[in-house]
Amino acid sequence: MTVVAHISDIHFGREVTEIVTALLADLAAAAPDIVVISGDLTQFGSHGEFAAARAFLDRIPAPCLVVPGNHDIPAFPVWEMLFRPYRRWRRFITQGLAPEWSNAAVLVKGVNSARPYGPYLNWSRGRIAPAQIAAVASAERDPRVLVVTAHHPVAYGDDTGRDYDLVTRGDALLATLAARPRSLILLGHRHRSHASLWSPADGERTAVTGAVLARDDVLILHAGTATSDRLRGQANSWNLITLAEAGVGIEMRQYTAAGWASATRLDLLWSGG
Ligand SMILES: [Fe+2]
Repeated sequence: MTVVAHISDIHFGREVTEIVTALLADLAAAAPDIVVISGDLTQFGSHGEFAAARAFLDRIPAPCLVVPGNHDIPAFPVWEMLFRPYRRWRRFITQGLAPEWSNAAVLVKGVNSARPYGPYLNWSRGRIAPAQIAAVASAERDPRVLVVTAHHPVAYGDDTGRDYDLVTRGDALLATLAARPRSLILLGHRHRSHASLWSPADGERTAVTGAVLARDDVLILHAGTATSDRLRGQANSWNLITLAEAGVGIEMRQYTAAGWASATRLDLLWSGG
């Protein structure tokens, strides 16, 4: 059994100190094998925010796999945004933009979907390059569970407002994940948690407990903002994911007046598991 803690959008610069402190304790109690952080570690990408994010990572009692979000590319100075957008990320967080972690049962791959600019007006929009999809496709025959993480949404889930754009080539990434069994994708950006299934034939549908994942089903999980005050209709949250031989358990942890607590629980089965 492999335990994955999925946290996102911690946004140092807009963090709530008591929630950060409580999250570190909640993570320690969960004792995950790996903590996956799906971007937006900072609010404006300042040196101070990155230093605070680094100090936070150093206090997590587990290995961390981290990908950038759109907020982790500093807007100023403009030359840095345009020509060295990941300079601070590399200095404070990690060198690689395609991190990997694995054990005998699970392979985790990070995909950087953040870009300083693109052929669209929405600055916060993300993009995935064909080479990044090829890197994910290289795991097509790997028998382990594949967990991919990126910042930007590949599907809208239950969002009716749709006040953000889906990541460019997200559909190609989903199709690549669907070409192999037992694939998950962990995302952020929306600041609202959600679980859904996606397959080429059926598209996206809500994941419900007891569902059996077909060979070409991809499990899409969004985490909310773990520690910031930038709430969008939902409390702070993170996802505690248990990957077992028979299936996947997802416990959505939510911050309440009494501290971190279990809000919802979802259990899904692998077909043939
Ligand atoms: Fe965010």
